[in-house]
Amino acid sequence: MYKIAVIPGDGTGPEQVREGLKVLEAVREKFNLAMETVTYDLGGERYLRTGELLPASVLEELKAFDAILLGAIGHPDVKPGILEKGLLLELRFQLDLYINLRPVKLYPGVATPLKDKGPEEIDFVVVRENTEGLYAGGGGFLRKGTPEEVAIQESINTRYGVERCLRYAFEYCRRKRQRRKLTLCGKTNVLTYAFDLWERAFKEIATEYPDIATDYAHVDAICMWMVKNPEWFDVIVTDNMFGDIITDLGAMIQGGMGIAAGANLHPGRVSMFEPIGGSAPKYAGQNVINPLAAINAAAMLLDFLGEEEAACCIETAVATVCREHLKSLNAGQMGYTTSEVGDLVVNHL
Ligand code: IPM
Ligand code: MN
Repeated sequence: MYKIAVIPGDGTGPEQVREGLKVLEAVREKFNLAMETVTYDLGGERYLRTGELLPASVLEELKAFDAILLGAIGHPDVKPGILEKGLLLELRFQLDLYINLRPVKLYPGVATPLKDKGPEEIDFVVVRENTEGLYAGGGGFLRKGTPEEVAIQESINTRYGVERCLRYAFEYCRRKRQRRKLTLCGKTNVLTYAFDLWERAFKEIATEYPDIATDYAHVDAICMWMVKNPEWFDVIVTDNMFGDIITDLGAMIQGGMGIAAGANLHPGRVSMFEPIGGSAPKYAGQNVINPLAAINAAAMLLDFLGEEEAACCIETAVATVCREHLKSLNAGQMGYTTSEVGDLVVNHL
């Protein structure tokens, strides 16, 4: 019996999650899986109502699930940073979800802003470290509010954290990819401490994986190549901040936030799956956003649970819906409502 916690969250999150669950329910039936879901009210509304972000009791309960399906976190009436740090990053840190896995895959029939590039050229995965780096919260102010103010924001890179991320990337490359090419994305020419550690660990671990081709590129160059030659990439591994930035670029070349999903993973423990597009408050409640990102997140969830066939079935249905039905992947331009897109995927399973 799979136990799934559901956090619909803010803005368009509940609409995303509703369609993700619709598809999960349909594959559950088709593949005869046993699954139960429990919904948690967390997010901006609850925070405004009660001041609570992630109560300790809820965190404890979440640890007992197999997976979490998250809609979105972010509310226009809450100051930026509060929900992000108090809830989304808190979940990632407290559950030690040390991998953020983001596939960048262009499906046939989907428009990409890259001229002359198609599904053959755009198919890679970013493995982002998810618990350290600039996100760890190191630093502080000195003389805050004075003309002599100092703000320090430190990037924390532990050998342990870097190594487990790199090992995951090598294993993922071996297990899931045919090309078996792993590119380290860093900035060894300037960040000569942090990425020195990353590069040394990368080279050492690479000797244990002779079947995997390795490569290195600076983050700025990666941005350039992702646009000019995305076909060079198979799996890219990088730190938290660079991973955050390059995966938004990745989402755009695969057709936009309407389809981009991500997984926050700790292999063997409860892990969290989300559409990466955010809460998009201006579209909330209108049944116009594209739910394929949440549906893809649901597919990643099943894959993580070992239900690879069920996951694959969802992915194939999503690809078919993109190819045969949707006019665009953008909110309001799909030619269908949010719930109709969910129904289309279910029909194609
Ligand atoms: C993401 C988001 C988050 C991040 C924000 C909302 C804190 O942009 O999941 O990429 O920076 O990690
Ligand atoms: Mn981001």
